Amino acid sequence: MHSFEYKNGSLFCEDVDLQQIAEEYGTPSYVYSAATLRDNYTRLDEALTELDHGIEYAVKANSNLSVLKLLADLGSGFDIVSGGELKRVIAAGGDPAKCTFAGVGKTRDEIVYAIEQGIYCFNAESEAEVAFIDKVAGELGKKAPVAIRVNPNVDAKTHKYISTGKSENKFGVDFEFIEAAYERASKLENITLRGLQMHIGSQLTDVKPFIEAAEKVAPLAARLKELYGIEFFSIGGGVGIVYSPALASGSTEWWESHTEEARPLTPERYAVGVVPFLKDLGLKILVEPGRYIAGNAGVMLTECLYEKKGTAKTFKVVDAGMNDLIRPALYEGHHEIVPVKEPTKQTPHITMDVVGPICETGDFFCQNRDLPDFAEGEFIALLSSGAYGFVMASNYNTRGLPAEILVDGDSARVIRPRQSVDAILESEIANL
Ligand code: LLP
Repeated sequence: MHSFEYKNGSLFCEDVDLQQIAEEYGTPSYVYSAATLRDNYTRLDEALTELDHGIEYAVKANSNLSVLKLLADLGSGFDIVSGGELKRVIAAGGDPAKCTFAGVGKTRDEIVYAIEQGIYCFNAESEAEVAFIDKVAGELGKKAPVAIRVNPNVDAKTHKYISTGKSENKFGVDFEFIEAAYERASKLENITLRGLQMHIGSQLTDVKPFIEAAEKVAPLAARLKELYGIEFFSIGGGVGIVYSPALASGSTEWWESHTEEARPLTPERYAVGVVPFLKDLGLKILVEPGRYIAGNAGVMLTECLYEKKGTAKTFKVVDAGMNDLIRPALYEGHHEIVPVKEPTKQTPHITMDVVGPICETGDFFCQNRDLPDFAEGEFIALLSSGAYGFVMASNYNTRGLPAEILVDGDSARVIRPRQSVDAILESEIANL
């Protein structure tokens, strides 16, 4: 589950009071729970015990070095999408030999770097890319391990910007062409066909699309094993999390109050759904979870700067903006908002928009939401912000990147200090 709950009238992350964190380190700040990260990893790992499997954590979800190190220490492999991410994994003590390299547009430099570091496999997304990897490997006098990503044309039924497994999406080789692509790839001299990969989308809350994809693609994996001796089948990431009610969903009672059928996706239900199609393949099964591992392990803290009552609405202006957490603006993503100081029975609820300081109408964290009131100077937490939160932050409006803090039990460590505006300016060249 997760480790954020009210204790003694204040929101805690494990044994650390978030009020203290906000006062000591300032806002906006991201706070992660080490216990939740470990728990999520272990729970998925255990759910898949029936399979010869490996977890390739999707680095893009949260790539802080301390988060990667924590996962590397648990034995995780890593799914990377750039040379930069590979460099991060290595810096964090991760093993390149447990890395898969995804993405539709790998450059020559990235391919060279990944071959030199000895990654486990490139997950190629087009025949042109397979040919290019072969060429670059040849120039280096090496053989590169390659899997091809198949696009199974399955509807993941998630937001259109994070759906990837339909033919109209740019990802992978169409199911109809994949066998021919392997056939041609098998003739190339400088690659070894090591696996098959798919990923149908992100934030899936229903197991059915996963089942549909596994059922459709498993026979293909079996054929490719027979024909080309591939050793793994990666079924991608995508397991969704509960964004609402995020806080309540951390408690055992909340799960118990839902019938098995009504329960949101869990690693166990995911495993029960897909394992039957995979267990007899004789292949190593890889999964690439990002959000499931990191999403509910983090919150973003921000301070309420001003309240503005207009004719139409009440706005709470906070010190975090869409540059710090872009999910609401980009995907209409819902993040539950709770005051750090626990509301009492007397606290009135009001309908509000929580907005940031950025000069854009899309700079909001919620609109017309009924929330317990909070005052200027008080802190609030945006829950389930551990995945695709900090990593998508930018310097828009010349705002320094927020701080990141890792809580483990009763200790809190800054794992990324707040970026100063001076640091932003120093990275530029004034050609006056
Ligand atoms: N594997 C591949 C090849 C992927 O493209 C992705 C995510 C993953 C694994 C991990 O998916 P996850 O387990 O996290 O669902 N920024 C968006 C999400 C983009 C996901 C991109 N690909 C968001 O904030 O919702």
